[in-house]
Amino acid sequence: MGKRIVSAAVSAVMACCAAVISPVFGQSATAGLKDVYANHFRLGSILNGSTVNSAAMKQVVLKEFNSITPENELKPDQTIVQSGSTNDNVKVQLGNGAKAILKFCEDNNIPVRGHTLVWHSQTPGWFFRENFSANGAVVTPAVMDKRMESYIKNMFALITSSYPKLKLYAYDVVNEAASESGGPRTAGTDAGGGQSMWVQVYKDNSFIEKAFTYARKYAPATTKLFYNDYNEYIQAKRDYIANSIVKPLKQKGLIDGMGMQSHLDVRTGSDPYPSAALYGQAVTIYKNLGVEIHVTELDATVNDGNESYFPAQATYYKNIMNEILSKGGDAVKAVVVWGIQDDQSWRKARKPLLFNASGQKKAAYNELVKLIPESNWGDGNNPGGGSPTPIAASVKSPARITPLVTVRDRTVNILSTADAKVSIKLADMRGKTVATFNTHGGDKLSLQKLPAGAYMIDAKRTQDGYRMTSSVILR
Ligand code: XIL
Repeated sequence: MGKRIVSAAVSAVMACCAAVISPVFGQSATAGLKDVYANHFRLGSILNGSTVNSAAMKQVVLKEFNSITPENELKPDQTIVQSGSTNDNVKVQLGNGAKAILKFCEDNNIPVRGHTLVWHSQTPGWFFRENFSANGAVVTPAVMDKRMESYIKNMFALITSSYPKLKLYAYDVVNEAASESGGPRTAGTDAGGGQSMWVQVYKDNSFIEKAFTYARKYAPATTKLFYNDYNEYIQAKRDYIANSIVKPLKQKGLIDGMGMQSHLDVRTGSDPYPSAALYGQAVTIYKNLGVEIHVTELDATVNDGNESYFPAQATYYKNIMNEILSKGGDAVKAVVVWGIQDDQSWRKARKPLLFNASGQKKAAYNELVKLIPESNWGDGNNPGGGSPTPIAASVKSPARITPLVTVRDRTVNILSTADAKVSIKLADMRGKTVATFNTHGGDKLSLQKLPAGAYMIDAKRTQDGYRMTSSVILR
């Protein structure tokens, strides 16, 4: 954990050319949020069946974001097919919205967060009843085990077989299973009122570990598995999630991350809830469990949707982001905003997002940009945090010489995966060589506790001088 894979290769140059400074610096004109935060984590948003058909929204996504979550399109009520489902084989489908979103992300190389598999809400009541019938008796835990396993298995199979090049880098396996007072939800059919049919079947929260066991079994190895919840900073709920859900799952190797939904409230600005400090405490507690953190559904409403509170909203976004950066550090791999423009938000009356209804950047957007000095911006299509990003296909034979670089606590490990003789050089930004090594592949160079700063990694194939450069930033 805490390990960053910086799969590099920002530019390829021939031996004749001087080392190229990768385009991570000085790109204010074209940079989007994904670039501003590229050296910290992915900066994502959502698409739904409507926004994915808007050329304007797709443009915004391509410029600003490098993670997409389908807003509703992968939820159980849109994916479980009633007719023909059996206990051993739950039929699943992707609707037109899901297809359009996943295709757009696959085509544009945008990693996706899957959302969500096991949830009390937006899940058909008949999924928990005999014969998948609305009037059937509630099934036993043994039957529900089979249905849950089959649903999870079939969902991963359907997505990965339909979109083989899609980067499904994370999945919310279980959503919102904790009550506000810290414990399981109340059993019952009133999902809108917070009741859970999962608890009705199992009588407790034992379905959570089963869900993660099945997800671990069937998810692609590159898909990180998350528990996701809201009000995740309220003490009783936070401590229950941390100690009774995430910690035991982590000890069993079943979970990779905590999803902090982060549906926040600026109110009038003088007493936002949660306070940035309370939010930061939660970040610290989840980080200390040794799991990754994704902020999965960030939005921050203002009272009455009154625009006079927008400056306060901007300050609040800045303060929250500061907590994420300072308390979360390397554990945070993605921050996802739950919507693009205010008028598209599920809480649109209270205008919680970064763009207004006309698509203009709000003060909150600008504050998030100002928070990161431009010298620290990066390339959001090839970010330092998050999941490994493959090298652009246009780069010639990169896999043959590009080393795999991982960074932890300012220790840089360079692993050569080349199938030829390659000389690798690490230099600081003034061009001063810090280390060199020659390798025939499979060799590893470890450089402990380097001074903070930006470094260039230059790999040159002996045979023909073919060369790749990349950069890494240590902080
Ligand atoms: C919301 C969507 O944004 C709405 O369009 C839908 O009507 C209800 O669900 N927690 C979650 C998200 O995990 O899936 C929810 O999304 C917001 C709260």
